[in-house]
Amino acid sequence: MADENKPVQPSAPATGANPAATPQHRQVPGGDAPATAAAAAATGATPAAAKPAAPRPPAAPMPDLAGKTTNIASPGGAAAATKPAPAPAAAKTATRDPDDTSPLLTRRAWMGLAWGAFSAASAAALAATGRFMFPNVLNEPPQQFKIGFPTEYGMGVDERWKEKFGVWVVRVAEVSGFYALSVTCTHLGCTPNYLSAENKFKCPCHGSGFRLTGVNFEGPAPRPLERVRIVLAEDGQILVDKSRHFQRELGQWIDPEAFLKA
Ligand code: FES
Repeated sequence: MADENKPVQPSAPATGANPAATPQHRQVPGGDAPATAAAAAATGATPAAAKPAAPRPPAAPMPDLAGKTTNIASPGGAAAATKPAPAPAAAKTATRDPDDTSPLLTRRAWMGLAWGAFSAASAAALAATGRFMFPNVLNEPPQQFKIGFPTEYGMGVDERWKEKFGVWVVRVAEVSGFYALSVTCTHLGCTPNYLSAENKFKCPCHGSGFRLTGVNFEGPAPRPLERVRIVLAEDGQILVDKSRHFQRELGQWIDPEAFLKA
């Protein structure tokens, strides 16, 4: 007969619903959990009391600010905390893709490149400034020049000064004198050639023809060649001055300086 004054032990449900016992029962092959729960219920003891609670899984290592890891649940946590952290270089190497062959530039290398580019740009700007200070000098032939004494010239066209000064010196017997013709074609500016066999100037560009006087007579040239100033210098030499031109169509060939009597 049961003692009514004896405290009644709470009985575990027959389904063995103690969560602490459940994992352990899963690990047992054969699945005898219900029997164990029933036995516990029959003996009046809880399953937890009959079997120790399953051990808790170890806590995950917690990194601290120094890069060390501490295993809180592990009894050797203190020893793990004193373990030295891995070297930074090793950590960097570990994160790099082994197939990545691109170079790694350090901050010092980047600074070197930046300073090199800055220096090159400064040198280029300095060179441009220096070039600006010394512009190109165009050496043009002088506008006035002496071409020797009148006795040095025969009759006809003298081409000695065509290339150097851009003039023909023509001596004519009829009026006993000289004039200087510009070698610039009055069509589009080409340089005609003197054809002694035909006694004329012929432009190679579009075929304009000029007589020895400079008057145009064929081709597209719209007007005669121009004459330039020709006088005798103080020393008796012929002085040619290209800074002054005379145009026939303007009636300038009658100017005293457009013809030298000698
Ligand atoms: Fe001399 Fe045209 S430039 S004919």
